[in-house]
Amino acid sequence: MSCLEYSIFWVVVGLISYKIWLKLTTGWCTSNVCLVGKTVIVTGGNSGIGYETAGDLAKRGAKVILACRVEKKGLAAVRKLIEQTDNPNIFFKPLDLCSFRSVRAFADDIIKTEKRLDILINNAGAGVLPPKTTEDGLQIMMQTNYFGHFLLTNLLLDLIKQTPKSRIVNVSSFLAQYPFKLDVKNLNKYPQTGLRQINDLIMYCRTKLCSVLFTIELTEQLKGTSTTAYSLHPGVINTGIFRNHPLWLRYPTYLTIYLFYKNAIEGAQTTVYCSVTKNIEHLSGDHFQDCKVVDRYPNAWNPDLAKDLWAESMKIVGLHNK
Ligand SMILES: NC(=O)c1ccc[n+]([C@@H]2O[C@H](COP(=O)([O-])OP(=O)(O)OC[C@H]3O[C@@H](n4cnc5c(N)ncnc54)[C@H](OP(=O)(O)O)[C@@H]3O)[C@@H](O)[C@H]2O)c1
Repeated sequence: MSCLEYSIFWVVVGLISYKIWLKLTTGWCTSNVCLVGKTVIVTGGNSGIGYETAGDLAKRGAKVILACRVEKKGLAAVRKLIEQTDNPNIFFKPLDLCSFRSVRAFADDIIKTEKRLDILINNAGAGVLPPKTTEDGLQIMMQTNYFGHFLLTNLLLDLIKQTPKSRIVNVSSFLAQYPFKLDVKNLNKYPQTGLRQINDLIMYCRTKLCSVLFTIELTEQLKGTSTTAYSLHPGVINTGIFRNHPLWLRYPTYLTIYLFYKNAIEGAQTTVYCSVTKNIEHLSGDHFQDCKVVDRYPNAWNPDLAKDLWAESMKIVGLHNK
């Protein structure tokens, strides 16, 4: 065997071993909890992790509401899920997280029509968006990934709290650890490194750290109620989240993820785990990965940061006078 052949052989062995290791360490939600009589909302339930999460919870008998921004995609997902799960209690309702008007209309509709809300899954998110300002004057990725869910959760909180043992699940990312700096007074400032992909990545990391900090402070606010909240990293998952990358980045990313990372069913496991597993209430406010609680990220330890973020977010979404 030549030196080159020998090197290629060991690279291939290394990659195959890595893939096997990833498969062996993937967490699976083994709970068989039945959700008949329970109501669930999944934001961004029309694709990827949200779609598979909705399907799992529908198979358990829950009434599942897909909160999606594009009606056609939402209705197509409802049809497919009903066919796959034999559960007719799956519905679409319009929600565009980057519009507070839309979030308020969605929440009003839910409060009028639903008597209970057992599980709210703040799953929707975007990794790459044109760097623009929303109709509310906020940075678009920050509003989509964080402020939209912050407002939605707060508007639905009374309904959630009046539902016994209800849960709020925030889908974050391990990238929450790398925001460079989170300046609570400048949450909508788009980074200016000169490279769009880096700016988007930093912004994404910040939105996901906000989601972790939001979960921590929300848990404080929920003390004395039977509602609990969890944040999680779903893994690196082969979904549409990379669809807005430029072509030169998109295909290598998809190929790498397809070969070495998880599919959407695997990606939904930790969300489902946090939504249904019994006896994890004492872990409210904690962060999960692969269906296990993991150490809080070092940059999420400061409780003052979580409190400051909450106070600033209340102002930004217009709830501070509540
Ligand atoms: N995939 C990964 O490797 C990975 C890793 C860590 C964390 N996550 C997180 O996992 C969550 C789910 O992402 P995914 O990987 O499943 O990607 P996905 O397939 O692209 O799903 C994202 C969902 O969010 C929806 N969405 C985007 N902007 C929205 C808006 N303004 N209003 C309402 N819904 C909106 C999308 O709707 P449209 O179909 O209309 O665009 C889609 O349904 C995200 O929060 C993401 O940050 C993913």
